[in-house]
Amino acid sequence: QAEISRIRNISKVQFGRYDLFPWYFSPYPECFTQEDLMYICEFCLSYYGDLKSFGRHRQKCTLLHPPGNEIYRDDYVSFFEIDGRRQRTWCRNLCLLSKMFLDHKTLYYDVDPFLYYVMTTRDKKGCHLVGYFSKEKESAEGYNVACILTLPQYQRKGYGRLLIQFSYELSKIEGKLGSPEKPLSDLGLLSYRQYWTENMIEILLEYNEREEKCSIDALASQLAMTSGDVESTLQALKMQVYLKAEHKIVIPAHLEARHLAMKEKQKTKPKRVIEPGRIKWRPPI
Ligand code: COA
Ligand code: NA
Repeated sequence: QAEISRIRNISKVQFGRYDLFPWYFSPYPECFTQEDLMYICEFCLSYYGDLKSFGRHRQKCTLLHPPGNEIYRDDYVSFFEIDGRRQRTWCRNLCLLSKMFLDHKTLYYDVDPFLYYVMTTRDKKGCHLVGYFSKEKESAEGYNVACILTLPQYQRKGYGRLLIQFSYELSKIEGKLGSPEKPLSDLGLLSYRQYWTENMIEILLEYNEREEKCSIDALASQLAMTSGDVESTLQALKMQVYLKAEHKIVIPAHLEARHLAMKEKQKTKPKRVIEPGRIKWRPPI
């Protein structure tokens, strides 16, 4: 445990056509981290300390996509489901890679209890890893996401939103309410808060239009969010008012204006979304 909180140990990683500059310590074996540059195969995620052995590996490696079932495909991204128990090495390598950008104290060497939902973009060369989230096969706390990551070269382009939406679409298929594992990182909280806010306001405006009253439970079930996450979002946005012991949800004017401006912008530049109908997945039994 102590070693995991150590300072950043890798300065630069070559990954596919990108150079990655790690943010945090990751427990790669020391002999691989001593050079100025580490090499990671973008498909099998194995790591090399020198160009020669990496080159030899690339000659042999035949993997062109994550080693699991493709459960979603649209014209933009694919999702693969990978079982930690069946693909132990690949999933451990994914954890090592993502630890470079996650400030977690615990790293899941034990990948067996998790499923990994890996998002890629496709081109002629293969399916390139963009980001992923992990999910416990059985979460006592009802978490639908354990870890979530967009690789730095793809951040702030809307991919995190797609990962988050996908996790909730799976929860909808399961007929469950889901929540990300706590505590969230700063970036995790920003991204979730943004996703929750946008989606809750969208529904609240629909209720307003129909002059219906919306409840916390109605928001929770439509979005497959826990009522706890709905409530904490309402509180953070100061959207709950109490009138004579009666509880009411209101949309502050500035949030409504921001939401409508965002919708207006999307008419010219539509945001990417997951199309639920394209998900080919059933809850594992
Ligand atoms: N600063 C401010 N707001 C940010 C932000 C940042 N650096 N990153 C995300 N957000 C907010 C924004 O509101 C953004 O929407 P906008 O770009 O339309 O304003 C929204 O989150 C979604 O951003 P998006 O581009 O879809 O997210 P992403 O692909 O960058 O991925 C994470 C988000 C959290 C997955 C990514 O930052 C990450 O991998 N971080 C490192 C690992 C981590 O901390 N994971 C969470 C562990 S709990
Ligand atoms: Na987490």
